[in-house]
Order: sequence, then C-alpha cells, then structure tokens
Amino acid sequence: MTTKSQAVLDWIDARFPLTSTIKGHLTEYYAPKNFNFWYFFGSLALLVLVIQIVTGIFLVMHYKPDASLNASGVPVAFASVEYIMRDVPGGWIIRYMHSTGASAFFIVVYLHMFRGLLYGSYRKPRELIWIFGTLIFLALMAEAFMGYLLPWGQMSFWGAQVIVNLFSAIPVIGPDLSVVIRGDFVVSDATLNRFFSFHVIAVPLILIGLVAAHIVALHEVGSNNPDGVEIKKKKGADGHPLDGIPFHPYYTVKDIVGVVGFLIVFSFIVFFAPEGGGYFLEFNNFIPADPLKTPPHIAPVWYFTPFYSILRAVTYPLLGIDAKFWGVVAMGAAVVIIAFLPWLDRSPVKSIRYKGGLFKAILAVFVVCFFILGYLGVLPPTPGRTLVSQICSVIYFGFFLLMPWYSKIDKCKPEPDRVTG
Ligand code: HEM
Repeated sequence: MTTKSQAVLDWIDARFPLTSTIKGHLTEYYAPKNFNFWYFFGSLALLVLVIQIVTGIFLVMHYKPDASLNASGVPVAFASVEYIMRDVPGGWIIRYMHSTGASAFFIVVYLHMFRGLLYGSYRKPRELIWIFGTLIFLALMAEAFMGYLLPWGQMSFWGAQVIVNLFSAIPVIGPDLSVVIRGDFVVSDATLNRFFSFHVIAVPLILIGLVAAHIVALHEVGSNNPDGVEIKKKKGADGHPLDGIPFHPYYTVKDIVGVVGFLIVFSFIVFFAPEGGGYFLEFNNFIPADPLKTPPHIAPVWYFTPFYSILRAVTYPLLGIDAKFWGVVAMGAAVVIIAFLPWLDRSPVKSIRYKGGLFKAILAVFVVCFFILGYLGVLPPTPGRTLVSQICSVIYFGFFLLMPWYSKIDKCKPEPDRVTG
C-alpha cells in the first residue's frame, strides 16, 4: 500500500473501525477448513436477498398498487405489471429475476436449513443462530405471501382470500382479526395497499435486521462444520484454531464458485423457463383478479405447500372449535417447532457422519414425507390424498417430538478430536 492510501486508511481507522472489522470478520476470521457443498447456501441466501432488494427497488418505480379498473376494464395493478413486462426497457428481466428470485430464495433457504439438520448446526452454542434463522424463515414466508398479492391476478386474489379467511376461524377474535388484516370485509384495494406497504418496507427491514443478527451470532461462536467438531478447542501456538483457515481469501473465493454455479441455473430459469412449469408463476395468475369468478382449484406457490398440506390434513373439530382453526394451529406449530430443535436433539454427537442408523433412517423418512406433503399441497384434496397427508403430518411432528427419545438411544460413532476433511 502506498503511503498516501495508508494515510487515508489511518484517517478512517481513527474514526471508524474499518481495518479491525475487515480483520475480525474476513482476513482473521477463522472458519473450519472442511466446509463442503452444503456451506454454499448461506452466502447464496445473502446473494438472493440482494437480488430481491435491488430488483424490487426497480419494480416499485413502475408498479402501481391499485385495484381499480383502468379504461380497458383491467385492474391497474395487473396492468402495471404487464406494462413492466412489455413496455419498460429491461422490465421483463427485472420482473422475472424477482419472481424467480422468490422461488430461488426458498430453494436456497430450505437447503441451508437442511444442512443445519445434517450437521447439528443448531446445537450448543449455536441455538441463537438457529432461532434467528427460524424467525427469518417466518419473515420470508410473510414477505412471499404478501408479494404474491401484488400482481393482482386470479391466484393472488383467491390465494389471499383463502389464507386471510383462515384467521376468521380463531375463536372470539377471528372475524375481527381478518377484517383488520384485510382492511375491509373482502380482499380489496385496501388489502392491496397494506400488503404493498408491508412487502416493500416493513418486512424487508425486519428481514435485514434478522439476517444481521444471524451473522453477528454466527461470528460470535464461529461456524460448525461437516464433522460437528468445535475447532476452537484445538488452537496452535499463534492462537488460531488448528483446523481453521482465514475466511478471506479461502472462502470468499470458494463462495464465488457457488455464486457462478447458482447464477448459471438462475439465468437458465429466468431466460428459458420463468414460469417454472407453473410452479414459480402459476398459470392462473396471468388472468386479472376477478372477485366474481373463483378458480376451480386454488393452490399456494410450491414453497408453502408442505405447510398447506398440514393445514388441510386437520379435518376434525375439537373442543367444539372448527377443524379450520386446528388446521391453522397445526400449520403454525409445524414452523415454530423448528425453533426447538436445539433442545430436542439429545444425541452425543452433532454431525450425521457420526450418528447411528436410527437417526439416519428417521431423517430419511422425514424428508420423504416433507416432499409428499409438498406435492399433495398443489393438488386438489381427495379422501385418499387427505389420508396420506394426515399420515405424513403425524410423521412430520413425530420427527421433532420423538427426537429426545430416538436421538438418545441411537448408536452413534465416536466423534473425532480434529476435523477429518
Ligand atoms: C435470508 C435467509 C438467510 C441468510 C441470508 C442466511 C445467511 C447465513 C450465512 C451467510 C451463514 C454462514 C455461511 C454458512 O454457514 O452457510 C449462515 C449460517 C447458518 N444459518 Fe443461515 N441464513 C438464512 C436463513 C437461515 C435459516 C432459515 C436457518 C434455520 C432455520 C438458518 C440457520 C443457520 C445456521 C444454523 C448456520 C450455522 C451453520 C454452521 O455453522 O454449520 N439460516 N446463514
């Protein structure tokens, strides 16, 4: 560094902790040397967050949250999205990046969470990282749900109608609560305006705050790794973990490989299959919202469907309260229970590498059930499908609730002292 740039840096450092932050979080932040493929998804989630914010800023420049009809009888909100797609220069790519980004966000975050499950990353001392993660997941669901109303297509409208109506099943406060959420007695312009406000500013602020807390907590305790071994326990003479390497340049460069791989797949979808076969953008949403015409089949977007299936699996009233209410409770519990994993897993080892056959088998059944629930959630219900989703829902909750028991009796292998590579 030249003496001049060093002088500028010294000037900044005397007023702002620039060099010490870079050292503490990058060049002298030691991460385990054995990160694998699964460790790409944290940085990819950050990348998708940035993509969504940047493309969102440009979309807002032309989008209009207005449910009234224009001179051609088309809702202004719907027409403004079509205007972005056809008339705004580059508008189509911005919109498709944002809509594909929503699905990409969930793919990346589901894989990121699954990594945590594989390697026991939620266990002591990383409980808060996990809790912040679960809150991020909840905020992400709220963000996606409200964003989906904005194009004001048939699925936007009727999807919101179905989900907001669920709140009316809550005893005593339900009917009033659903009116408060909608801002009206039906999904209307008022609903569109408040969802817009939440989608573009309130929830993104919460998300960014939670992601910051997530990473601060991570850097306080350090990353777990595929062996589940705490690298801070074995330090060299220089005080650095023997199994650690500086995050920069090693993992910044490795993460770039993940980013390139991700962008290849992402670009392919944006350019060649932006509807994702009707899963990323549902076909019914290319039809303007019509409050007088209910589509024959209303299905949420794929990333909600495992939880939607759990909601529909509850078909019995209990304590004199409607089954719909218990469905909502089950759906909420299915997400919230994830936060309790750090206290449910009693295994002596963290990583799946050293867990026994019992845990592995139960995890495999859980994953299969999660996919089945997801698949059934896009289909109209039949008695047979409802039965399968009931069985899978029981297995879903069983995975969590029985974990204290099966993780304890599982025959684990001894965890090594040092990471194995
Ligand atoms: C916007 C969403 C999210 C972002 C941007 C994000 C970001 C990150 C980053 C950059 C890391 C470090 C790199 C890595 O270990 O892969 C990380 C680690 C971690 N994240 Fe997330 N995350 C998000 C959502 C979640 C969710 C939903 C959960 C779980 C419910 C979660 C749980 C964890 C855990 C347990 C770790 C530590 C992993 C380990 O050390 O093995 N994250 N996250």
